Amino acid sequence: MELRQAIEQRRSVRRFKADPVPDEYIWALLEAARLAPSGSNIQPWRFVVVKSREMRQKLSECTFGLKFVAQAPVTIVCCADMTAVETRPQRMAELWEAGAFAGTDLENLNPADFAQHRTMDEKTARAYVSLNTAIAVEHMVLRAVDLGLGSCWVMMFRPQEVKELLGLSDNLIVVALLSVGFPDQSPPPRPRLKREDILLKWV
Ligand SMILES: Cc1cc2nc3c(=O)[nH]c(=O)nc-3n(C[C@H](O)[C@H](O)[C@H](O)COP(=O)(O)O)c2cc1C
Repeated sequence: MELRQAIEQRRSVRRFKADPVPDEYIWALLEAARLAPSGSNIQPWRFVVVKSREMRQKLSECTFGLKFVAQAPVTIVCCADMTAVETRPQRMAELWEAGAFAGTDLENLNPADFAQHRTMDEKTARAYVSLNTAIAVEHMVLRAVDLGLGSCWVMMFRPQEVKELLGLSDNLIVVALLSVGFPDQSPPPRPRLKREDILLKWV
């Protein structure tokens, strides 16, 4: 499938067939996430695949009444690891060694200098790892379309309850749930702002 088609055909799907999602499809989604770009290549995304009926039901109870989370054959709990921020010097050094900065000013930096990277306060770091994780989530969403799957981003949940349910450590932020399955509905395109509403300037 063309990327353009995947972008245009994607919908938030909230009704799924009972057919199970083959594990190789789930791995394909995780692979799409793994390949996502991230600031300084810190790759803060971490995932929990929820397939068991019992856990799907419990997970759905952590949402604000979203029954489709229990109905979907798989929900991927998408987390951001706050400790990934501390790996920036190491990740930057890897990039440097791989020649990612060849021909740029960064090429002349000594990898040891990456250790003196700019620091972030807690709030900024949380936003940073979360936005990087969101990119990986949307990679999975588009790959799902390519595989004939439907998905729905879910942020209407109580994060602390999800963390307790899955025994997730304090360094993890639950950014979103992604419910996935074969679609049992074909929603029409949802309303969007017009081009002129989103383009501020073209200078
Ligand atoms: C970050 C994010 C959070 C969302 N959270 C929810 C949610 O909690 N529950 C839900 O039913 N849909 C959720 N959605 C789906 C949106 O409602 C949907 O993307 C939007 O209405 C546009 O429809 P479309 O995705 O079919 O184009 C979320 C989408 C995004 C990107």
